Amino acid sequence: MNAAGVAPLWPMMRNLLPHKRPIATTKSHHWAFADLRPLLLRAGQLTPVEKAERRVLVLSDPGRGVGSMQATASIYLGMQLLLPGETAPAHRHTPSAARVIVEGEGGFTIVEGEKLPMQEGDIVLTPGGRWHDHAHEGDKPVIWLDALDLPLFVYLEGSYAEEAPLQARRNRPDASEVEYLAAGLRPPRSPSAPTAQYPMMRFPWRRTREALHAMAKHAGAETVELDYVNPETGQAVLPALGFAALMLRPGEVVRPALRSTSEVYHVVHGKGVAMVNGERMRWGPKDTISIPVFSEVTLSADGEEAFLIRIHDRPLQEKLGYYEERPR
Ligand SMILES: [Fe+2]
Repeated sequence: MNAAGVAPLWPMMRNLLPHKRPIATTKSHHWAFADLRPLLLRAGQLTPVEKAERRVLVLSDPGRGVGSMQATASIYLGMQLLLPGETAPAHRHTPSAARVIVEGEGGFTIVEGEKLPMQEGDIVLTPGGRWHDHAHEGDKPVIWLDALDLPLFVYLEGSYAEEAPLQARRNRPDASEVEYLAAGLRPPRSPSAPTAQYPMMRFPWRRTREALHAMAKHAGAETVELDYVNPETGQAVLPALGFAALMLRPGEVVRPALRSTSEVYHVVHGKGVAMVNGERMRWGPKDTISIPVFSEVTLSADGEEAFLIRIHDRPLQEKLGYYEERPR
């Protein structure tokens, strides 16, 4: 069989097609920001950004081992540092990215000429194939969490990048402050002018938080959660990755259904406990937790309200006709 270049399926059959539910390689992990921050700042002292292109610590899935370039099967996570006055040169690549801003003021990303300020808790998109560079006009370090669908592109043998000089910037605020300032309103569209595929590339945290607060007042026993969507289509903001903002009221306990997605929770604000498949994790501001597929997750907030951003691959699974939820 070896010589003929074939292998028997039957000994491997149940590994490939286990009964009733998949077997996850991904292992859940809690990355405390307090552990990552000093390492990132040390990297800032040792590695000039000109040499690194992007100064990033990758959050490695323990299920795949140290140095693994992914946090789950479909999600890459990296904690990135930009120091005052630094720029990260323009590039574009096949995978799509979004960043959640973790710390600092004065940083911004330029995507196809649009200047996107980066304030704590904001989500900024750099969709696949779009030129992007980063700069920093503040006076303290800026740190953000990158989330990419990179593992898929590596799997497809489709991952590559191109480089270019820094982009010229359009002299106007980004689309979230101009065309899409109010929910439910957008500029009129003529049939001859196609809508941009990614019309809004920055989701300011200030407005997300305000919306969650308003919902919480009348939510009763309902979970207070909002999905990030493309304001023109109502669809997910990126082709493979989705984002949601979750508010936990003081002392609230949330038990989501078992989902077929692998996921990541990033804490914007607050403290609490996560139980993931029986494992207890105590989380605080700016921490990050990975969740394998079909995990039993219970999130509880301490005595103060908490806000988390959930990153998941439901858009990809829905395109494959697969997304599934199972009751607890
Ligand atoms: Fe990039």
